[in-house]
Amino acid sequence: MKKVNLLLGLQWGDEGKGKIVDIFTSQHDIIARFQGGPNAGHTLVFDGKKHVLHTIPSGIFHENAVNIIGNGVVIDPVIFKKEIQNLQSFNLPLTKKLVISRYAHLILPTHRLLDAASEASKGKAKIGSTLKGIGPAYMDKTGRNGLRVGDIEKSNWKEMYKTLTAKHMKMISNYGVALEFDLNELEKEFFDAINTLKEFEFIDSVAYLHKALEDGKKILAEGAQGTLLDIDFGTYPYVTSSNTSAAGACIGLGIPPSAIGEVYGIMKAYTTRVGSGPFPTELLDETGERMAQVGNEFGSTTGRKRRCGWLDLVALKYAVQLNGVSQLLMMKADVLSGFDTLKICTSYRYKAEEIYHFPFSIDENELEPIYTQMKGWKKDLTQLKNKEEIPSELIEYVKFIENYLGVKMSYISVGPDREQIISLN
Ligand code: GDP
Ligand code: IMO
Ligand code: MG
Repeated sequence: MKKVNLLLGLQWGDEGKGKIVDIFTSQHDIIARFQGGPNAGHTLVFDGKKHVLHTIPSGIFHENAVNIIGNGVVIDPVIFKKEIQNLQSFNLPLTKKLVISRYAHLILPTHRLLDAASEASKGKAKIGSTLKGIGPAYMDKTGRNGLRVGDIEKSNWKEMYKTLTAKHMKMISNYGVALEFDLNELEKEFFDAINTLKEFEFIDSVAYLHKALEDGKKILAEGAQGTLLDIDFGTYPYVTSSNTSAAGACIGLGIPPSAIGEVYGIMKAYTTRVGSGPFPTELLDETGERMAQVGNEFGSTTGRKRRCGWLDLVALKYAVQLNGVSQLLMMKADVLSGFDTLKICTSYRYKAEEIYHFPFSIDENELEPIYTQMKGWKKDLTQLKNKEEIPSELIEYVKFIENYLGVKMSYISVGPDREQIISLN
């Protein structure tokens, strides 16, 4: 029996993954984050309050489930500690509900500095990184220099830390950019946070997850970022440094492809992107501004304004194919209420030719979106409780997406709250 369901973003991140993981936790025993780090910001809203999680999986508020930070994640102990502090008031049995893979890599203070130095040195060509040290930490992982959670338990851990930090300091000076920092202060904060991390159980996560599978437990793998930010398949170099697509869940947790059951593809009813990089359907006019305002499109991690644009089905088809999506979930349908017409990108004009696939380069000088127009709906969706109340124009919008992508949609989200979700089944 296939017991690992997989949930991931199909666009450039911030699709609403956190909200759905929270809702789906009641049907799973384990929630396992498989990649990324505190560049992620996953928002949950319930009982009139908003909670943003960066490293901690989005199942943390539920009694029933254990949450795992998987081997594919990069952990900044300092941010982890802040997240733990933010959760204190909920009186959750955190040390029982959250366990950490020994194989997960650590983000050191100097990784953050390297991220800042790298971005500053790029000038206009900067990635628009969240500056959380993600790129440098994954570079050390693939460069075989990284430090892992399990290393904290070793007797020479401090030496290992010092060796890597000394190397980083040389690299930082090579960038030749002015950075202001006090390494002593950063290290104090880091080692203090390591103590918080040590309050949690470190696990041999492969053995742990396979035992859980043998015991018949149901696992939900939680992705971070989105498919178009994937290091291999995204809009390189304007991507993050991990595999955000379905294969990343196998690598980031140590589970075989044959164990994967449902693949939940989370998409917004339109498109957003935060940071630099090409975005074919971006709207730099008042329509884009309206989406940003109504959708409250400000980054959950950095507070930066998200760029907004129409739905891009060519890019979504690519994401559906890469991930083998078995169910679509469309978020933020409420944000599109009140538009007379909605546009959906169904092909691109690329070097004077019409194409239907997501090409190697989506540079705006070479590529232009071709749109199909659809009638919008007037109704406010935020109070909707069941599918019978869905306006006919939204049903047409959904059908059009399903037909194009060849996948059924199972839920529509109509507001940020846990309760604002409609099942289409
Ligand atoms: P994630 O990174 O994929 O978990 O998404 P984020 O939390 O970064 O961004 C999604 C934002 O949209 C958050 O502020 C959510 O509270 C909000 N949100 C989620 N679903 C809906 C929805 O259906 N409608 C509206 N208006 N907001 C939503
Ligand atoms: P969640 O999980 C949206 C973007 C950054 C930048 C690029 C590289 O909340 O969906 P990095 O910090 O990884 O070096 O940044 O990726 N980015 C995200 N955009 N949502 C995220 O996560 C993101 N994580 C990184 O803005 O463009
Ligand atoms: Mg987010």
